[in-house]
Amino acid sequence: QVSTPGELLGIAVRIAREAAETARRMRVDGVTGVRTKSTDTDVVTAADRAVERQVVAALAAERPQDGVLGEEYGNSTSAASGAVRWILDPIDGTVNYLYGLPQYAVSLAAEVDGVVVAGVVRNAATGDEWTATLGGGAWRDGRRLSGSVRTTLDQSLVATGFGYDAARRAHQAAVVAGLITRVRDIRRFGAASLDLSLAAEGQVDAYFEKGLNPWDHAAGGLVAAEAGLRVSGLDGAAPGADMVLAAPPALFGPLHDVLTELDAAGGP
Ligand code: IPD
Repeated sequence: QVSTPGELLGIAVRIAREAAETARRMRVDGVTGVRTKSTDTDVVTAADRAVERQVVAALAAERPQDGVLGEEYGNSTSAASGAVRWILDPIDGTVNYLYGLPQYAVSLAAEVDGVVVAGVVRNAATGDEWTATLGGGAWRDGRRLSGSVRTTLDQSLVATGFGYDAARRAHQAAVVAGLITRVRDIRRFGAASLDLSLAAEGQVDAYFEKGLNPWDHAAGGLVAAEAGLRVSGLDGAAPGADMVLAAPPALFGPLHDVLTELDAAGGP
């Protein structure tokens, strides 16, 4: 079953909208089933699990041969080359969800042979939605996105996030302490997929974070890249657990160099 990026995006958007509605409704009914995962600060709720099950079931019904990598239930990979693997964060921004802050999203991307070709990020609290296909641009509500036009780092608003591991947090705090005097300001909204989408839209100038998982950045990373941002790790590495940096071309170099310098202090 060969599908174009546009067809995959159509499926992703439809399923993400249903999933976002489930998350929103379960929030109105009251958060239940709160547990911790990797650390005491890493939470999961019944809604994270229910939304993931719903998306996995919808994909299985429609595209049984595809693989799925989801945050809560892990990996089911289709062996065939050219096969589609869906990458899902059922609720990105679970801590915001827990507290009722309107910054949590369903993030769903389609990857073919390791390349993300379509992605949707839907803010489940507000209904805001960002989409992209490889080579087809990044979009919000029929408007094509092109990122920030800012050219100087000291005038830039930079978003970031923190992982849940204590040693990593300490390192991230040191990086932020070094960065805050070199930029306009720093934002921490609490959902990586939305941070990347805001960078695509130019509502922040750039975004970086260390320690992300694929489900945090697969869809949002494509949205940012298709908006014209450079999205990568440090020193030309692919975006991944070591670093995801998304910035317009003029800001990428300066921010990359500052982060390389601050990151050199080491840390997980
Ligand atoms: C988290 C959010 C947060 C980021 C963390 C992620 P989750 O995802 O994206 O902004 O800083 O690194 O783990 O746990 O809410 O799906």
